[in-house]
Amino acid sequence: TVMSSPVPHTVLLAAPRSFCAGVERAIEIVEHALRRHGAPVYVRKQIVHNTHVVAELEERGAVFVEELDEVPAGATVVFSAHGVSPAVRADGEHRGLDVIDATCPLVTKVHTEARRFAARGDTVLLIGHGGHEEVEGTLGEAPERTVLVEDVAAAHSVEVPDPERVSYLTQTTLAVDETVEIVSVLRQRFPALRGPASDDICYATTNRQEALSAVAREADLVLVVGSANSSNSVRLVELARRGGTPAYLVDDASAIRAEWLDGVSVVGLTAGASAPPRLVDEVIAALGPVEVVERTTATETVHFTLPLAVRP
Ligand code: F3S
Repeated sequence: TVMSSPVPHTVLLAAPRSFCAGVERAIEIVEHALRRHGAPVYVRKQIVHNTHVVAELEERGAVFVEELDEVPAGATVVFSAHGVSPAVRADGEHRGLDVIDATCPLVTKVHTEARRFAARGDTVLLIGHGGHEEVEGTLGEAPERTVLVEDVAAAHSVEVPDPERVSYLTQTTLAVDETVEIVSVLRQRFPALRGPASDDICYATTNRQEALSAVAREADLVLVVGSANSSNSVRLVELARRGGTPAYLVDDASAIRAEWLDGVSVVGLTAGASAPPRLVDEVIAALGPVEVVERTTATETVHFTLPLAVRP
């Protein structure tokens, strides 16, 4: 164990946690592609934002690239769960690549909305974090009509050509509470604002935030298993901290620092949607002999079918 005494005696385990349906599907797609085509199978960007998932697939013959010019002509390339802009899709066709699309269907839904809103002449206010791959992909649907809104301050200052023709969309992995605030500012400023039929923040993001809230208020410390570039994982850490509980993001058990556990008796534990369940078990093992109490706030039954190209 990593602990000096006194050690935590309880782990409150948030449920749901760890893999969502979109991440499971994306990983399965790479695995099937490897089985069907053999190594190497190229993957544009990290298939999901988790260092362990990427390392394990690399070992099995996946080759991760940043852009399509790194992929040899005719090779098989998988687009990551975060989605791509139409320009990247066109580039893949132009290069004659055998493309398998692992974009999460819930990200594809946001792309469809972006095209629809732009086609009716609206300025699309995309609430999200600049530079994130999902945001780059969604922005690419209608770059000349889409404006990124990153926070409440931006919602107060953003200008649109016609306030009667304005819609909003969101990244799928935002904090629910912060997004509500941003949308309400936009609605005050643009009463004609129209949005998606149902939330763009996905079920998995929403459920993991609710589950963590339920354990964080009873915990002295919160640990979130996930990688630093995982949007939904970082949002979980911020959520716990906003509620007043110290919280840390850990890629795996080896990242836990003994001093975090000083005076801690109850640890709240969760994992982001891209973090493998095995890593959560390893964190529990590292915390030593603890009583594990699972708190379930929702049951998930979502499952996405694989694309035809890799269906067994
Ligand atoms: Fe999809 Fe949400 Fe997971 S958008 S990849 S189900 S975090």
